Amino acid sequence: CGIVGYIGQNDTKEILLNGLEKLEYRGYDSAGIAMLNDNGINLFKVKGRIAALRQRVDSSVHATMGIGHTRWATHGVPSEENAHPHQSASGRFTLVHNGVIENYQDIKREYLQAVDFVSETDTEVIVQLVEQFFAETNDTAKSFRKAMSLLKGSYAIGLIDNEDHDTLYVAKNKSPLLVGLGDGFNVVASDAMATLKETNQYLEIHDQEIVLVNRNFVEVQNLNGKVLERQPFTTKIDASDIEKGTYSHFMLKEIDEQPFVMRKIIHEYQTENNELKLDANVRQAMKVCDRIYIIAAGTSYHAGLVGKEFIEKLAHIPVEVHIASEFSYNMPLLSEKPLFIFISQSGETADSRAVLVKIKELGHPALTITNVPGSTLSREADYTLNLYAGPEIAVASTKAYTAQLAVLAILAVDTAKAKGLDLDFDPLQELAIVANAMEVLTDQKEAIEDLVREYLGTTRNAFFIGRSTDYHVCMEGALKLKEISYIQAEGFAGGELKHGTIALIEEGTPVIALASQDNVNYSIRGNVQEVVARGANALVISMKGLEQDTDAFVIPHVHELLTPLVSVVPLQLLAYYAALHRDCDVDKPRNLAKSVTVE
Ligand code: G6P
Repeated sequence: CGIVGYIGQNDTKEILLNGLEKLEYRGYDSAGIAMLNDNGINLFKVKGRIAALRQRVDSSVHATMGIGHTRWATHGVPSEENAHPHQSASGRFTLVHNGVIENYQDIKREYLQAVDFVSETDTEVIVQLVEQFFAETNDTAKSFRKAMSLLKGSYAIGLIDNEDHDTLYVAKNKSPLLVGLGDGFNVVASDAMATLKETNQYLEIHDQEIVLVNRNFVEVQNLNGKVLERQPFTTKIDASDIEKGTYSHFMLKEIDEQPFVMRKIIHEYQTENNELKLDANVRQAMKVCDRIYIIAAGTSYHAGLVGKEFIEKLAHIPVEVHIASEFSYNMPLLSEKPLFIFISQSGETADSRAVLVKIKELGHPALTITNVPGSTLSREADYTLNLYAGPEIAVASTKAYTAQLAVLAILAVDTAKAKGLDLDFDPLQELAIVANAMEVLTDQKEAIEDLVREYLGTTRNAFFIGRSTDYHVCMEGALKLKEISYIQAEGFAGGELKHGTIALIEEGTPVIALASQDNVNYSIRGNVQEVVARGANALVISMKGLEQDTDAFVIPHVHELLTPLVSVVPLQLLAYYAALHRDCDVDKPRNLAKSVTVE
C-alpha cells in the first residue's frame, strides 16, 4: 500500500490523486482520499484503481489539506468498506495506513470492546484507538503517541483531526515514510516519487517517530513527545524518469533501457584509470568473510542465484541464497564470519527487512544491493551498492534484475582481485559487450512477437528448461511470464524434468529451452528431444556459436558467465508480448504490488 498527504495553500485533490498514481506500484486494488475543509471531512473511496477514484471524487470540493491511500489487500477483501481512509466512530478522526498491525485483535479486545467496526481491516483499530484515548486526554498529539506506542507491527500513518485544520499527524514504524518540505506547504508520502512535482526536499522519518506536519513547519517527535532535530536531504530522482514518454508501457521502456543501465553501471563502478571503483569497506567485508548469505525475494532472489555463481566461481567464497520469507523460520547454521547480502530493487521488501533486523541483532555485517539509495534496507545495512537503474515502475522487474547481475559480477571480480586471485576477466569490458548485445535484442521485438503468436498464443501453461546458469534464468523467465500474462509457467533444471514434471507435457505444450552454456549444450539438447518426443512445442533460444538449425532464436555471443544478462531479454519480451496479446494489464498485473512492505 502507499500513502500520501498534503497540507498547504492549494487545492489538494489533484496533488493527492497524482501522488497516489505514482504510488500505484505499491498496490492498486482499492483507493481513497479524505480532504478537510470548512464543511468537515470529504471522503471518497472506491474498489479499483486511482483512475476510478478520480471519477468518484467530487470536483467541486475545495480543500487545502488531505490524505490518500492506495491499497494492496492484506486483512479484508478489496472493497469500498475496507478501502482507506478509515474513520473513528464519531467521525472526528480519519486515517490512512500502510503496513500490518500484528496485535490488532488484542487491541480490540483490550480497549475497543464497545466499538462497532465497519471494516475487516487491522487498520481501523488504530483510528478507533486514537479516539478512545482522546476521550481521556483531550489532546490529539498525546492520544496519537499513546496509540502508536501500543501498536505492534508495521505502519506508515497519516491522520486528520476534524477539529484541527492546521496539522497532519504522521507516524512511522518499519513501513517507509518521508515528509517533503515546501514553501507554505508540506507533504507526506510512502515514496518521494509521489510528491516530486511538489518538492525535492525531504525529511527522513525513523521508526517509532511521529511528525506534526503544519503548513509552515514540521515537528518530529519520539513516542514520549520529545522533539527531535532532523536535517532535510535533496532527492536525486528526476520527475521525468518516472514518465512513460512515448512508450505504451513502462515495462517495455524499462526493457529498452537495459543497455543504458549497463553503461551507467560501468561508468559508476569505474575509476579514471579504468580500474574497478568500489567502497573500500565493502571490499574489506567481502575479503574477511568466510561465507556469504544472500537474502532476497522474487526476481531479486533469482538474481541472487546467479550472483552465487559469480561469487563462488570468481571470488572463491561459498555462498548460500535464501528466500527472505523463509530464512527467519529455517535459519541455517551460520559460519563463523558470515556476510549477509540483501538484494532488493526497492530496498523496502518487508520479508528481507525482517531478516536484516534479526541478523543485526546477532551482530553480523550486512551489505544491501538496491536501486533505491536511502531505502530502509540501505539505511539499516552496514554498506550499500547502488544499481543505478533509474526508477523501475512496471511491477514486473526487468532492468533492475540485469543491473543486479551486473553489480554482482563487479563485486565478485573486485573481491577476487582484493584476495589476489588471478583472473582473466574484465567485467567492465564484458559488460560493455553485454550492453551492445542487449541493444541487438531490443531491436528484435517483432521477431519475438512472432514467437509469442507461434508458441504462446492460446496456451494455458508453459515450461522453461535450462541447465547450469540457464536454469536460473529459466526461473526468472517463467516468473515474468506468469506474473503478467497469467500463463502458468515453471522454470526447471533440464535434467530434472524427467523425474516427474515431464508428466505434464502434452501435445503442443510450449517448452522454452535456453542453450547458452557450452558445457551443457549437448545435454540440454537431449532434454529438448525428450519433450519433443512427447508432443511438446519446443522453442530453443541459444547463444551464437552454440546454435543449431532448428533453434527459434539466437542471442549474440557474450562472455559465458554473463549470458544471463542477455538471455533474459528475449524472455522478458516474450512475457511482455504474451501479456499484451491477452489484453492483460502489463504494468499492473492482478493481485501483485511492486514493493511488498508487509511480511
Ligand atoms: C514483489 C514484486 C516482485 C519483486 C519482489 C522483491 O513481490 O512483485 O517483482 O521481485 O517484490 O522486490 P525487491 O524490491 O525486494 O527486489
